[in-house]
Amino acid sequence: MPTNLSALLPSLMLSLAALASACKSIPNPMSTKPPASLPPAAAFGKTKAGESATVWTLKNSRGLIAKVTDYGATLVELHVPDKAGKLADVVLGFGDVAGYEGGDNQYFGCTTGRVCNRIAKGKFTLNGKEYTLAINNDPNHLHGGKERSLSKVMWRGAPYETRRGKELVEQGVVFTYTSPAGEEGYPGTLLVTVTIALTRESELRMDYEARLQDAAPGDATPINLTNHAYFNLAGAGSATVLDHLLKLEADQYTPTDDTLIPTGELKPVKGSELDFGKPHRIGDRIPADTTPWKGYDHNFVVNGKAGEMRLAATVKDPASGRVMEIHTREPGIQFYTGNFLKGQTGKGGKTYPHRSAICLETQHFPDSVNQPKFPSTIYKEGQTYRTSTIHKFRAE
Ligand code: GLA
Repeated sequence: MPTNLSALLPSLMLSLAALASACKSIPNPMSTKPPASLPPAAAFGKTKAGESATVWTLKNSRGLIAKVTDYGATLVELHVPDKAGKLADVVLGFGDVAGYEGGDNQYFGCTTGRVCNRIAKGKFTLNGKEYTLAINNDPNHLHGGKERSLSKVMWRGAPYETRRGKELVEQGVVFTYTSPAGEEGYPGTLLVTVTIALTRESELRMDYEARLQDAAPGDATPINLTNHAYFNLAGAGSATVLDHLLKLEADQYTPTDDTLIPTGELKPVKGSELDFGKPHRIGDRIPADTTPWKGYDHNFVVNGKAGEMRLAATVKDPASGRVMEIHTREPGIQFYTGNFLKGQTGKGGKTYPHRSAICLETQHFPDSVNQPKFPSTIYKEGQTYRTSTIHKFRAE
């Protein structure tokens, strides 16, 4: 298959999945039994509501393995080789859907939305109407809400793969979910698609698409999607991430009040503990537990042009040699050091102590819906939200 065609394939699958869900009379090509070579599916337990969850295994020719589930369109496992070729699972998570539904899940690996991060006091006004959302991070709204955020619902998963001749180009799952109008207080019925793919270039790629459905002209809704993977490049369950080295392509950040709501300004990082212009050991200057953010929990303004794919962050675990680069089209990236991890037990009986993982959540800035100077998160009827983030791995 020519390069341009195979590159187009994932978006073709996206359109097919969206078309099938929009038009019930057209049979959904994803619902037929996949050929044996597609990413294999396995049962992942039942939700409290009795829905059966599925987990798919994605592989690439360089030894990377990822597992993704339809509950919350979640990244469950990610096995990456170190400099000696030894694999370790570098993301936090649970062994079944019950773990993800339980109180120990702090958004591990999930698709986060409809609006990720915080909305001040859970309120915003759109088209002259005030909307009130759940306060689940007192006094603010966090990560799309309490019960039916995108991280807590069952998506529909359609596995696919792209080959050039015999060579495997990528394997992935296209997840789709239709969020009804008013779900978690957000306006409009929203059709959301997230593709999670593992490529032959050792990239974990996430492509997002969303748009209002059955909306009237002028209808609008806020959208801000991310993935909330917690990484420890020494292997999930390792004691800390304080020895990881981090470089951020960000000259500015968005300062906040004590409840982590941006003040609206952009401030230079230069000379402060937020300056990762050159690689720094995370533990060297980490803010104390007594600060309002209890470690790093800051939104950085990614240098360069939002909308264009560019490098945002590079993380290295010096002991294993694993390196992760994050490339994104988003204007911001939330750097969070797992300050609220509480020693819960995850996959394979491993425990996740305080600061034993980092999150680097690519996003529009927190509380954008109430901040006229920030890049807009409002999408109108007829507009399509599209963004992508790539996690690229190597060992050195
Ligand atoms: C984000 C937030 C943090 C915290 C985590 C989830 O990173 O910025 O403050 O809420 O999610 O625990």
